[in-house]
Amino acid sequence: MDKIDLRSDTVTWPTPRMRRAMANASVGDDVYGEDPTVNKLQEMAARRMGMEAGLFVASGTMGNLVAILTHCGRGDEMIIGDISHTFLHEVGSASALGGVHPHTVPVRDDGTIALDDIRAAIRNPSDLHYPPTRLICLENTQGATGGMPLSAEYTRSVVELAREHGLKVHVDGARIFNAAVALGCEAKELVAGVDSVSFCLSKGLCAPVGSVLCGSAEFIERARKIRKMLGGGMRQVGILAAAGIVALEEMTGRLAEDHRRAKMLAEGLATVPGLIVEPERVKTNMVMFSLADDVSLDAYQVAKRLRAYDVLVGPRTERSFRAVTHYWIDDERVEKAVEAFRKVLQ
Ligand SMILES: Cc1ncc(COP(=O)(O)O)c(C=O)c1O
Repeated sequence: MDKIDLRSDTVTWPTPRMRRAMANASVGDDVYGEDPTVNKLQEMAARRMGMEAGLFVASGTMGNLVAILTHCGRGDEMIIGDISHTFLHEVGSASALGGVHPHTVPVRDDGTIALDDIRAAIRNPSDLHYPPTRLICLENTQGATGGMPLSAEYTRSVVELAREHGLKVHVDGARIFNAAVALGCEAKELVAGVDSVSFCLSKGLCAPVGSVLCGSAEFIERARKIRKMLGGGMRQVGILAAAGIVALEEMTGRLAEDHRRAKMLAEGLATVPGLIVEPERVKTNMVMFSLADDVSLDAYQVAKRLRAYDVLVGPRTERSFRAVTHYWIDDERVEKAVEAFRKVLQ
């Protein structure tokens, strides 16, 4: 990777071992359930999540959509964070394609949703005027708050609340392994009791494509049909799943390095005059920071100037940025990125 690309951990290239595994993958027709590599990945994924079954899907967006459409029917309501990826960045797919009504509730700075806010959002089923509440969606790590990991205890409390009201819980676990590493536990502890989780192979884990949706065997059987309806029934897709297997075998254990470098980046950026950074808020692989009021350039202009130093960073607003560390960002690149900011802002 020639550029220092901090825009996202989705920019990661597959590792050399992934490319070899893809070239040599055993394949079959996965619509018949006959691709051995896909089957192996799905079993591994389910085991890692402590669930009965898994389903390979094209993307995190598809994983969340398949989950929502499997849990909910048209006119049902899901309770979801107002800055969650699914609500903000998935093209309104649950409502556009499934007629599922999002009931948004505020996400707090630590990435959680207050239980009282969830409770208040649950509709009274005997009131004629309301859509039926069916599902609660959580996001772990929570991206818009800067990759905040949600604890097992918190998720358990949401599951308990859901059970009291006969609701299902889906976790958008795009970066669930980052959460597990940050909290020093297994990913399955973070989704204990939930009805479904979708996690991504193609973010910090470096696989080129794909996510896995996990749940009970019965849920996944229904989800497979929804995936087919969405055009997600793929054929010799073991070529892609092979990279996912390497991701699960080799890449989850090293995420602590990305977290260390995110902290290092935040601490470095905090020394640059003109930047406002809170290194203590960095819990996983994301750094959110902003421009001080006395900086005349806006975030888009700064990002443009950084390109001259081969540094790519994502403006979030006119005055703020997000930087994400990943496999292709080593210590030297972190230092170069900090120096590039210093030069642009001096
Ligand atoms: C928290 C979260 N959920 C879901 C997704 C969607 O994943 P994809 O881009 O693979 O559709 C993303 C993508 O960045 C994400 O950050």
